[in-house]
Amino acid sequence: MLKILNLKAGYGSIQVLRGVSLEIEQGEIVTLIGANGAGKSTLMKTLCGILSPSAGTIEYQGARIDRKSPTARVKQGLVLVPEGRCILQRMTVYENLLMGAYARSDQSAIKTDLENVFSHYPVLAARKDLSANVLSGGEQQMLAIGRALLSRPRLLMLDEPSLGLSPLLVRDIFSIITDLHQSGITIFLVEQNAQKALQLADRGYVMETGMIVMSDTAQNLLGSKELREAYLGG
Ligand SMILES: Nc1ncnc2c1ncn2[C@@H]1O[C@H](COP(=O)(O)OP(=O)(O)OP(=O)(O)O)[C@@H](O)[C@H]1O
Ligand SMILES: [Mg+2]
Repeated sequence: MLKILNLKAGYGSIQVLRGVSLEIEQGEIVTLIGANGAGKSTLMKTLCGILSPSAGTIEYQGARIDRKSPTARVKQGLVLVPEGRCILQRMTVYENLLMGAYARSDQSAIKTDLENVFSHYPVLAARKDLSANVLSGGEQQMLAIGRALLSRPRLLMLDEPSLGLSPLLVRDIFSIITDLHQSGITIFLVEQNAQKALQLADRGYVMETGMIVMSDTAQNLLGSKELREAYLGG
């Protein structure tokens, strides 16, 4: 579904991604693990088109997309839930959700999708007319996911969805991800919480300083001594 080959990208003269290759099959949950500053978010931003690669290719559903606009990619179902959530704090919950539908014009389907989000996440329904800044961290993450659903994702990329959440809420977010996957959405998950991410995933990649240094089934990665020492706390 997604095939990245030798991707290089960065910020001005700073090169962050130094030739990243990876693949995601339709229906998979794939996780990307790596230390702070490894380049995980930079990869996500390059995939969704906020950053342009300096080299390499991104193929999505059989066609190159690396020159396409972020909006064109969203329209094709390649959707990012960004690190830090990027909720518009002064807008209402409802308005934030609608932002997810910015690239769509099918008004009646948008309405149905909104109703679906509200029925799946009653917490959001109950707060739909409140300013988003009153939401707790977990509710804001739910809102960020709800907003992404309004873009009708086929491949949903989640950048550190559990960041800053209590263990209980982390569990909720992971169970939401499982539900999304069961509803047919392919998942690309960036997580610091490597253990939990691998327990959920089919396969994983490990990134160090802008390069993929390991890739395997989640089960093998969980059992890998090297990975345990570096990322799973021994
Ligand atoms: N806008 C920017 N301008 C310049 N350098 C940046 C910018 N954003 C990120 N970087 C640098 O790029 C490198 C990779 O950052 P990135 O955010 O991709 O890492 P990450 O793996 O997502 O880390 P974390 O786990 O902390 O989220 C870092 O050295 C960072 O300082
Ligand atoms: Mg990051």
